[in-house]
Amino acid sequence: MCAVQLTVVDHPIARARLSRMRDERTDNAAFRAALRELTQMLVYEASRDLSVAEEPITTPVTDTTGYRLAAPPLIVPVLRAGLGMADTAHGMLPESQMGFVGLARNEVTFQPEAYMASLPESLVGRQVFVLDPMLATGGSLVHCCTLLTDRGCTDITVLCALAAPEGLQRLEESGLPLRVFTASVDERLNENAYIVPGLGDAGDRQFGAV
Ligand code: PRP
Ligand code: URA
Repeated sequence: MCAVQLTVVDHPIARARLSRMRDERTDNAAFRAALRELTQMLVYEASRDLSVAEEPITTPVTDTTGYRLAAPPLIVPVLRAGLGMADTAHGMLPESQMGFVGLARNEVTFQPEAYMASLPESLVGRQVFVLDPMLATGGSLVHCCTLLTDRGCTDITVLCALAAPEGLQRLEESGLPLRVFTASVDERLNENAYIVPGLGDAGDRQFGAV
């Protein structure tokens, strides 16, 4: 049985936004805008089976049954690059709480180096949406998701713009219980562990190289 359930959100508008993000001529502001729009599509698809609770409402015409999300997921952007997805996801899931995980990949070893985690102590019974535009080697997401499972979480959904086959394989081998929603599974990683064809460094493309 596969631990990772993969959904590729393959839609003409998603392809168009992703192409804008891939294009090296796209400036920081246009990149951020395209990522926000792509995030809407990823959140929409990933939210499809959230449970709803009924509540009575009154329209200008009559009484009827309305719905609200019964248990909005905790949203966890992985800093820095996941920040560009956070506001959009929160706008679509306004009742959600948000946690934060800060990771920077060491560009020599390709291992994630953790610099912050702000998460509830217990995640027992809670669903979590993890936001990170890039799944490359998978090291960062394995680290982040392990922080979640260490707190008792058993229901993790990862939303990323791009995934590499190597990263998906790494998630699979981790045995973590995950769903992954991505707009594309690209070809491979290069010798610098960058996704090919990819879009470059998603943090730098949004915020500039610091
Ligand atoms: C990027 C990206 C992921 C990670 C993916 O972040 O946002 O978190 O790399 O690589 P991996 O799958 O090989 O671990 P980075 O570490 O460059 O930090 P940043 O978001 O601050 O730019
Ligand atoms: N992180 C990025 O931002 N881009 C890649 O291609 C790989 C890791």
